[in-house]
Amino acid sequence: MARAPVAFALDFASVDSARAAAARVASEIGMIKIGLELFVHAGPQVVALGQELALPVFLDLKLHDIPETVERAVAQASNLGASLVTVHASGGRAMLRRAVSRAAAEGGSLSVCAVTVLTSLDHEDLSDVGMAGPPTQAVTRLARIAYDEGVRWFVCSPAEVRAVRELLGDQAVLVTPGVRPAEAARGDQKRVATPEQAIQDGADWVVVGRPIRDAADPLAAARGIAESIRAGRAMSAPT
Ligand code: C5P
Repeated sequence: MARAPVAFALDFASVDSARAAAARVASEIGMIKIGLELFVHAGPQVVALGQELALPVFLDLKLHDIPETVERAVAQASNLGASLVTVHASGGRAMLRRAVSRAAAEGGSLSVCAVTVLTSLDHEDLSDVGMAGPPTQAVTRLARIAYDEGVRWFVCSPAEVRAVRELLGDQAVLVTPGVRPAEAARGDQKRVATPEQAIQDGADWVVVGRPIRDAADPLAAARGIAESIRAGRAMSAPT
């Protein structure tokens, strides 16, 4: 059976614990996500975990800087052999365009993935930082800009995935964090849904960290999520 479209967030303080946790659930996941904690701790060589485990690496650096700096960082991410690197869509058109064209020019397998609005932010948090209106409005506006500049991978919360799918169509690959099995704790995530619901609403991939990392039985948790995704796909398949 094909691996489930689950990106396991390796939010760990050491490479050894990340490696052990990823190896335990490798049969049930489709990608490992290396984020800021592990990258800052271990440095670029941690990307080699992907080769060790024969899994693509989603390098979640959420780049947000001037176009020149982001472009050069994207080139380095490509050299490391990552499959995906995140940039904040709010970095603007020139930044997005240069990130995409540099990833293509490097000739590796790297795709640029635009983060729309962090799933930990709700309506009130957005107003606080001057982004008036509901999260869906900000997410779709940012997704449109990124798509127009050539980005094809997007991070949005399950609450907006349907709107982004309607806006961008089938060429967009939608990745949703903020995914929680029905019985799991939400933590600091505010815009959440079950994996099944996220897939039914149009997500291609789900990002899951704590519900696997902190489970008493991580393999069973990963299996449960993979099954929930299969159920979601079965429900949304045309009859
Ligand atoms: O533990 P949890 O399942 O909430 O982990 C979600 C992961 O997805 C974290 O690594 C977080 O950095 C990441 N993420 C997110 N929201 C985004 C982009 C990435 O939660 N918009």
